[in-house]
Amino acid sequence: MVAEQDGQIVGFVSGGPERSGDSLYSGEVYAIYILPAHQRKGIGRLLIREAVQALLAQGFSNMLIWVLSDNPSRTFYEALGGEFVREQPIQIGAQTLTEAAYGWIGITPLGR
Ligand SMILES: CC(C)(COP(=O)(O)OP(=O)(O)OC[C@H]1O[C@@H](n2cnc3c(N)ncnc32)[C@H](O)[C@@H]1OP(=O)(O)O)[C@@H](O)C(=O)NCCC(=O)NCCS
Repeated sequence: MVAEQDGQIVGFVSGGPERSGDSLYSGEVYAIYILPAHQRKGIGRLLIREAVQALLAQGFSNMLIWVLSDNPSRTFYEALGGEFVREQPIQIGAQTLTEAAYGWIGITPLGR
């Protein structure tokens, strides 16, 4: 799913089934990105709403989002009511970094 402004794509979101087989969270937002010049205008919130509506349509009522632990966008997930779930190491090239999961149980309100 993409967000457009004046015919230009300014952001995207993708989601689907949770990928690790988590026992609680069945849906996942895999990635969300808004061009820097378009951040903090509510587009991210709108894209999450769209992604949540798609997850609900696929029968998922809980979701996870993984984010690098030192990513400032954690504030965004916290503002949207995400609860910190756990951290795990992630290998990116030669580096081992840490990623954090945010979870939502009952995503219906987030889709409104
Ligand atoms: C994280 C991201 C998706 C947020 O999208 P956005 O359109 O900028 O966010 P919104 O305008 O919808 O913000 C919703 C709320 O989240 C919080 N928030 C968002 N960005 C924030 C920031 N940089 N610092 C503090 N709070 C922030 C605020 O509470 C905000 O509400 P407010 O503007 O009314 O105060 C966007 O900044 C982005 O694409 N960042 C770079 C890529 C990235 O880090 N992606 C996530 C990893 S997968």
